[in-house]
Amino acid sequence: MTTLRKTRPGRVAASPKPADESNRIVREAPAKLNLTLAVIRRRADGYHALHSVMVPLKLVDTVTVSPIETPSEPASTERRDSLALSGFEVPGTADNLVLRAIALARAAVASTWPGAPAEPPPLAAELLKRVPVAAGLGGGSSDAASAMDAALEAWDARLSIDRAMAVAAALGSDVPFFLACGAARISGRGEFVDPLPDLKGRQPAVLLVAPRVAVSTREVFQAFSRGARPIHAEAAQEVSERLAADMASGLRGVALLERAAELASSNDLLHATVAVVPTLVPFRRALARLLALPVGQSGSGPTCWTLYPSLTAARKAARVVEDALLAGMLPEIGHGLPFVAATTILTGPAAGTADTDTNAADKTASAADNDTSTANEAVEPGRDAGRSIRGHRVPRGRHNVDVSDSVEHDGR
Ligand code: C5P
Repeated sequence: MTTLRKTRPGRVAASPKPADESNRIVREAPAKLNLTLAVIRRRADGYHALHSVMVPLKLVDTVTVSPIETPSEPASTERRDSLALSGFEVPGTADNLVLRAIALARAAVASTWPGAPAEPPPLAAELLKRVPVAAGLGGGSSDAASAMDAALEAWDARLSIDRAMAVAAALGSDVPFFLACGAARISGRGEFVDPLPDLKGRQPAVLLVAPRVAVSTREVFQAFSRGARPIHAEAAQEVSERLAADMASGLRGVALLERAAELASSNDLLHATVAVVPTLVPFRRALARLLALPVGQSGSGPTCWTLYPSLTAARKAARVVEDALLAGMLPEIGHGLPFVAATTILTGPAAGTADTDTNAADKTASAADNDTSTANEAVEPGRDAGRSIRGHRVPRGRHNVDVSDSVEHDGR
C-alpha cells in the first residue's frame, strides 16, 4: 500500500520522495458513488438530462505527472506526453483520458502561458489504478480531472473555474464533478455541479461489489432510450431532489442509512443496465439475500453498493461476500471474481458548519474508523485531493457552475 504524505494544501507526494523526483506532482483521484440517479429526458444533442446526488469515496486511483525536459525538439509536444499504467485491470493507454486531459489542459492554457508561443512542456504521467474501469464508479473521469489539475501545477499555469469546468465537460460528463470533488447535486448531462455539504457526523461506509463486466455507459443510455426504464418515471427524481434538499440543510450520515432502501431503488438506469447485462439480475438478487440489505447501483453499473454504519461493518460484509464467492454461493458473472471493497464517503474542507457539527457518539465512531486501509488498499487522500484548480479553489456552495461556452443551458 502506498503511503502518502501531504506537502502543502492540494498537493500530496509519495513518501519517501526520491531526490530526483522532486518535481513529481501527485494527485489522488477518488471514485464516486451515485446515491441517486434520475434520468429526466433525452436532450436534443442525444445526451440525457440527469438529476443525481453524487459523493466521492476514499477508494482512489493515483495520478502522477512530471515535466519531461526536451527543449531542443520542435516536434508536437502533445505526442510526447507519456503514460505508464499499473495496478488493477490496467486499460490501454491510447485512448486514456489522462492523456486527453493533459492535451486539453495544454490547449486551454497555451495562449496565456508565460512561455508562449512555445507550448507547456510534455509530461510523463503515471496512473496507478485501484478503481475498476467501466464500472459506474467514475474512475476514468476522476483520473482525467486529477491529471488536468496536476498538469496545471506542473506548468505553473492557471485556468478560470469556468474554463476549467468547460474543459472538464469536454472530457466527459462526470469530469466536472471530480473537479469540485465533494458531495454534489448533478444536473444537465453532468456539467452542472451544485456542491452540497458533507453528511453530518459519522460518514456511512460503503461496500462495493463490481462484477468484472465492462459496461459501456453509451450502451446503457441507448437501452434506456429504447424503453428499458422504470414504470414510475418520476419516482427516482423525487427521491433525488428530496435527498439533495435534505443534504443542503444538513442531513446526518445515520439518516442516510435509514433511507438506503429508497436510494437503492432510485437509479433510473437499473433496467437499462440489466438489459445490457442480464446476468446482473440473479447476481444482484443473490447479493441482496446474502447481505440482507438493499443493493443499489452506481451510475450505469455494474457496481453494486450497500451502506453500513461503520467501516468495520462494511469490511465484515466484504469478507462475507468474498467467502460466498469462493464457495460458489453467488451466481457466476463476468470474467473472474468480482471486485469487492469496503470504503467510506470522502469528506472535504468545511462547507459552512455542516461537517463540523459532530456529536460525541459520531466522534468516537469516526476515530474508530480512522484506519482507511481497506480490503482493496484504498488510501486516505489529503483532504484537498482533487479539489483545487491551480490558483482557483472550486468553491463549495457555488451554484450552477456555468459552462455556457461549451454546453447549452436549455439542455438541463
Ligand atoms: O460524457 P461521456 O463520454 O461520459 O458519456 C458517454 C456516453 O453516455 C455518451 O456518448 C452518451 O451516449 C451517454 N450519456 C448520455 N447522457 C448523459 C451522459 C452520458 O446519454 N448524461
